[in-house]
Amino acid sequence: MDTPSKEFVLAGSLEELKSKGRLVVHGGHRPILVIYDRGRVFALDNRCPHMGFPLERGSVEDGILTCHWHHARFDLESGCTFDLWADDVPICPVEVRNDDVWVKTTFTHPDLAAHWQQRLANGLAHNLGLVIAKAVHGQLAAGVPHAEIVREVALFGAQNRDGWGVGLTILTALANILPMLPEEEAYLALFHGARRVAADCDGEAPRRERAPLGSRPDPATLKRWLRRWTKVRHREAAERTLLAAIAAGFSPAELADALFAAETERAFADTGHSLDFINKAFECLDLVGWQHAAALLPTVVGQMVSARGAEESTAWRQPLDLVALCEETTSELVDLFAAGSGSRGWAGHGALAQELLGDDPARIVDALKEAIRAGAAPADLGQSLAYAAALRVARFGNANEHADWETAHHVFTYANAVHQMLTRIGTANNDAHVTAVRGVLHGGMALYLARFLNVPPARIPGDGGEQLDDLPTDPETIGAALLDAFDRQRQVDLAASLVARHLTLGHSPQALIATLAHAVLREDAGFHAYQMLEAGARQFRAWGDTDEGRYILIAVARYLAAHSPTERASLQTADIARRLMRGGELHQEAGSS
Ligand code: FES
Repeated sequence: MDTPSKEFVLAGSLEELKSKGRLVVHGGHRPILVIYDRGRVFALDNRCPHMGFPLERGSVEDGILTCHWHHARFDLESGCTFDLWADDVPICPVEVRNDDVWVKTTFTHPDLAAHWQQRLANGLAHNLGLVIAKAVHGQLAAGVPHAEIVREVALFGAQNRDGWGVGLTILTALANILPMLPEEEAYLALFHGARRVAADCDGEAPRRERAPLGSRPDPATLKRWLRRWTKVRHREAAERTLLAAIAAGFSPAELADALFAAETERAFADTGHSLDFINKAFECLDLVGWQHAAALLPTVVGQMVSARGAEESTAWRQPLDLVALCEETTSELVDLFAAGSGSRGWAGHGALAQELLGDDPARIVDALKEAIRAGAAPADLGQSLAYAAALRVARFGNANEHADWETAHHVFTYANAVHQMLTRIGTANNDAHVTAVRGVLHGGMALYLARFLNVPPARIPGDGGEQLDDLPTDPETIGAALLDAFDRQRQVDLAASLVARHLTLGHSPQALIATLAHAVLREDAGFHAYQMLEAGARQFRAWGDTDEGRYILIAVARYLAAHSPTERASLQTADIARRLMRGGELHQEAGSS
């Protein structure tokens, strides 16, 4: 970024400018184009704000400067564009002193943070990727904290679309992993999150606000009402009830309990997306501040009440009625948790996960019951479920159809959301166990139905002391090889082996996660890739640098390898914006005459 300066440099004599019509000033700053037009002198950045083409090669007519590359047009006096996709061109002060033309070499604003915040708002409103990228870059350079950028984008997304969507989920997932990323990657992560929110809102009707109820019913009543309205798909009633709970000052845990109870009125609703969105809305509020709960949280209600539950699908009803099995088990939960309440320190997460991967739903449910009796808390069950679902992905057989990756993915991200929600709800309210643990039961059945994905199971590299000595040793070379594998299609097994190699040699898991994040952020990644990365990083945190942690990151790498590479068009946009913001000349050779 340019820094404020009072320095002017000599562009040339007024006579020379008049005779040539335009001059370009080079130096240790951006190239500046000085134009003489109908008795007035103007100075602006010589690089087209669209893709950097030298504007000196453009044409001026009637006070309008036209770039000759993609024909974006600019108001010569203000630099404002007539073509929003191209962005405004920065102008700089120019003075004529004693028949000489002087230009100030810096382009700046009195309040850079506010300037770029407004530019981000414009970019979001018109879904302009390049403007969004520059605005994110500009805000970061102006020292705006990540959380403030996330807040601006999240509130825009909540207000300009009728319901939580893919964009807000991606934004939150990426914001969650920001602390693990270097600053350059943080720019990319925030850019991707913002551009996906903008794309989600493009052409959508804005959200209509609803008011909370005028009364303040007790928490049990509000929770009961929320379940009732969800069951009968009454969106307005559910939103007003939720707003009443927020206005009544419910804690995040109480709100999570109420929404989770309503959400699990249906099993594995919308193949898990509905719960995942709810969980992400909570995580978004953790990032941007709970004072925005009334603006953000009700956005999940529309999908929650309209979602299609698995109980409506044949696979959950025949040949075995999995929904009935879940309901029967739910009726036993109060007694089961009561029986386990005296036990402490349950640590059978890994063993329970193996039981959950079985092929008999009754035995799966029995394993869960036994764990509860032995003292497992709801969040413990969630952790086992998420780990088991990660193993489904890690062992995904290469003979499956490519689309089946999404089946494995859905169960994993649902299970991760169940785990996070149960952790948030905690163990204070015994009644919460009964309704919330339904999510574990549903997740267990979804996992059971996806068992075919591991027939035969893919081998997991690094087991039994396998050293993988044919692979590189130092972490940098392993990371480069991993990225190289993502450059080519169908390198699923190689990616898994490189992850195993990195971790079995004791290299930093954080560096590995940063490499996986880089691999996602350089692609035009699909929604699921972002979810997989973030859920994997979060589940890895629960297990640490253990065999289980290794399996989880192998699952992430295998999924990403199956979905790479892509065109990387967004990376190109981000890179153009970065170079324009840094002041470099993008097309010097094109500009030379
Ligand atoms: S319009 Fe100028 S570079 Fe595209």
